[in-house]
Amino acid sequence: MSTPEESNQGFYDADSGEYDAKRWVSPAGRFTNIVQQNIVSKLCDAWSGRALEIGQGTARFTMPLLKQGLQMTICDLSPEMLDVARGNITKAGLEKGLEDAVEGSIYELPFKDNAFDYAISLNVFNHLEHPGQALAQMARVIKPGGSLLINYANLRSWYWPAAKRINSRNTAVGQEVFSSWVTSSSMKKAASDAGLIHLNKTGHVHVPRALEDWYLLSVVKVLDAISRKGPFSSLASVHFMLLGKPE
Ligand SMILES: C[S@@+](CC[C@H](N)C(=O)[O-])C[C@H]1O[C@@H](n2cnc3c(N)ncnc32)[C@H](O)[C@@H]1O
Repeated sequence: MSTPEESNQGFYDADSGEYDAKRWVSPAGRFTNIVQQNIVSKLCDAWSGRALEIGQGTARFTMPLLKQGLQMTICDLSPEMLDVARGNITKAGLEKGLEDAVEGSIYELPFKDNAFDYAISLNVFNHLEHPGQALAQMARVIKPGGSLLINYANLRSWYWPAAKRINSRNTAVGQEVFSSWVTSSSMKKAASDAGLIHLNKTGHVHVPRALEDWYLLSVVKVLDAISRKGPFSSLASVHFMLLGKPE
């Protein structure tokens, strides 16, 4: 029986060459990618200086942050994903802003305390058994006054029955990789235990691969639009959480 970290590394090593093509090219995938990129660019638009991205995958979010002028360090459990990310960054002519690319786990970040102005980790927390430990590590490596952005799969969302099923097996639907959906209250507590303060929470309803049909996509688009902020945001399937480390 492999540990969740071994499962993640094995899965993403094998998936690295087709990760983007499998997820972000179909109409539903394109929609999810555009929405996520817009949310991230809005939440990070004031960032400048040095940032760490953990679990960058193919560098889908790293590249816009490099274009914004940030000096980026990337860190991923999967050496194959790091290779793909480096290749994509070089192909885009953005390698000057890449300070380092390091193999490592979010649970034991191989960086000194207070090393970065910002940290970001997207679509990673849904693969973690111990989100609180991961948040504490991210908090450790950013400077006082810095901030960090993560997202997580929200258990009590529009997708609650599917999420419960996923949690009963701790395996994603149709993918042999560790998966866990968590409650907002447990993430709020984890953030406060890590000494972090709440800055912003944005809801997003992603399109599961099972809902690729155009009519289901239309329904998801409506759910996504009404779940960004306000009363329905608590039902969004993904929450983006911007947190600050007090001075
Ligand atoms: C779903 S992909 C997300 C990639 C990218 N952030 C995106 O949204 O397209 C998850 C990434 O997190 C990495 N990962 C999973 N568990 C990790 C851990 N414990 N520490 C560091 N990286 C991890 C995987 O290797 C993979 O590259």
